[in-house]
Amino acid sequence: MNGKGAFITFEGIDGSGKTTQLELLYKELLSRKVDVIKTREPGGTIPGERIRNLLSDKQFNMEPVTELLLFFSSRVQLIEELIKPALKTGKTVLCDRFHDATVAYQSYGRGLSMDMVTTLEKAFVLPVKPDRTFLLDCPYEVAKNRMSARNYKTRIETMDRAFFDRVRQGYLNIAKSEPDRIVVVDATGTIEDVHRYIKDDFFSWAPPHLSPLPLGEREE
Ligand SMILES: Nc1ncnc2c1ncn2[C@@H]1O[C@H](COP(=O)(O)OP(=O)(O)OP(=O)(O)O)[C@@H](O)[C@H]1O
Ligand SMILES: [Mg+2]
Repeated sequence: MNGKGAFITFEGIDGSGKTTQLELLYKELLSRKVDVIKTREPGGTIPGERIRNLLSDKQFNMEPVTELLLFFSSRVQLIEELIKPALKTGKTVLCDRFHDATVAYQSYGRGLSMDMVTTLEKAFVLPVKPDRTFLLDCPYEVAKNRMSARNYKTRIETMDRAFFDRVRQGYLNIAKSEPDRIVVVDATGTIEDVHRYIKDDFFSWAPPHLSPLPLGEREE
């Protein structure tokens, strides 16, 4: 546990429901008066959001290593500018993707060396590590249908099914290697079902000061 707050991340393939579920847990924690903030990767800071724009610009092809280093650049900025100061003052931080995404996408997905990714993590990310991670797991078809229902353009259009299958399996491998931190969530259910599962896990895991009863249910 990092200080009094906690560092919570949401992971999963594009369209698995990370942002939706992060927002719901965020609202739940706010309603219980937990000192919580939310952020995202890449992004979350001004330089980080500019890096995010660069990464999502499909006008040019980027070398996989260029992409990798941009993700780390955004991460370092987020850690120093936001995550470390927030945890130091007891805030709980909810983050939409973090380092696991780099392992899943750049290493398992793109085939970059795991050693290189681990070396960069040791140099620039550790000892910052999520206290709990919700891995929203669903098949490619489910995520793709959700994305097309929302009709927005993302990398899902430019990458094939095999890529996302590798990323999904990569995430599951990471989860298997760190079962105490990573909760694999079946993301195929309804938004409400998935939220209930995450909420129940969070409140059975979290220390009491991070899981007060909702205001209406308190005795005070
Ligand atoms: N459990 C669910 N059932 C049905 N639709 C869902 C569910 N969860 C999310 N959605 C919808 O699917 C779409 C993608 O969800 P969301 O944006 O939360 O995914 P994401 O993992 O954050 O995607 P990205 O990686 O692109 O940011 C949204 O339109 C959302 O409303
Ligand atoms: Mg999202």
